Amino acid sequence: MNKERRATAKMIKIDPSIVLTVQDLTKTYTIGNSTITALNKVNLTIRKGEFIAIVGPSGSGKTTLINCLGALDFPDSGKIIYNVDAKGMGLDIMLMTNKQHKKMRLRKIGLIFQFYNLFPILTAYENVELPMVIDKKDPKLRKEKVKNLLKRIGLEERMEHLPTQLSGGEQQRVTIARALVNDPLIILADEPTGELDTETTTNIMKIFLDLKNAGESILMVTHNRRIAEVADRIITLTDGEFISEKNGGKPIKEIYKF
Ligand SMILES: Nc1ncnc2c1ncn2[C@@H]1O[C@H](COP(=O)(O)OP(=O)(O)OP(=O)(O)O)[C@@H](O)[C@H]1O
Ligand SMILES: [Mg+2]
Repeated sequence: MNKERRATAKMIKIDPSIVLTVQDLTKTYTIGNSTITALNKVNLTIRKGEFIAIVGPSGSGKTTLINCLGALDFPDSGKIIYNVDAKGMGLDIMLMTNKQHKKMRLRKIGLIFQFYNLFPILTAYENVELPMVIDKKDPKLRKEKVKNLLKRIGLEERMEHLPTQLSGGEQQRVTIARALVNDPLIILADEPTGELDTETTTNIMKIFLDLKNAGESILMVTHNRRIAEVADRIITLTDGEFISEKNGGKPIKEIYKF
């Protein structure tokens, strides 16, 4: 990451129903003499309570997009404007310092990855609590929040388990709770069901749909076109460009017969 970044981010008025808007986002990687365009002028707007799926072949730029939106990487050009106060005051994270980026990641963005990324020496409870500890939240508030979230995802009986004492699906549920613990503006999930069997995938998708129905905004990358169908919108990325968009919203019962 560029350590020379200066604080130039200014508040921009945006439509309050928008959570995130991306304009002409471009990211290239250069290795030796070759340059790869991972994202080529991508445009995207996500509104509050929307569930969007991104599909596309391997190497099409899906993870690069999640990393840029998740403030884990800096694009070359374009804009990534988050409705930071949730009332229509936007900030372009491209113009933030590393410190501001860090705060965005901690407070405003809930990240979920394919391989769970839980701390192996912390219990399920402690893993969920960690972002609140880093953010120096009040211990009483932490306890209440973490217990409620673990209950919400059906893991209150497993809170003292270490990640190795949990199934893959349970570990992914812990990461969902961890992503939600600081009340983010949006959940960004990169292949959240990539390691899971069909039944567990269905359970995770049901949790995502419950979250969406409770007003959360979700952007999910998936290889699985069937599960993408449950999202409100399905966007196909090819060679770093958005090539098509279609409506989803298919009931999960029609996708998996159970
Ligand atoms: N750190 C990096 N350095 C150089 N090239 C990279 C880097 N990260 C990704 N790339 C390249 O950028 C392109 C997009 O990669 P990305 O990981 O975003 O694809 P993806 O759509 O997530 O693929 P997959 O479905 O396999 O996860 C690929 O051609 C990849 O090789
Ligand atoms: Mg990827």
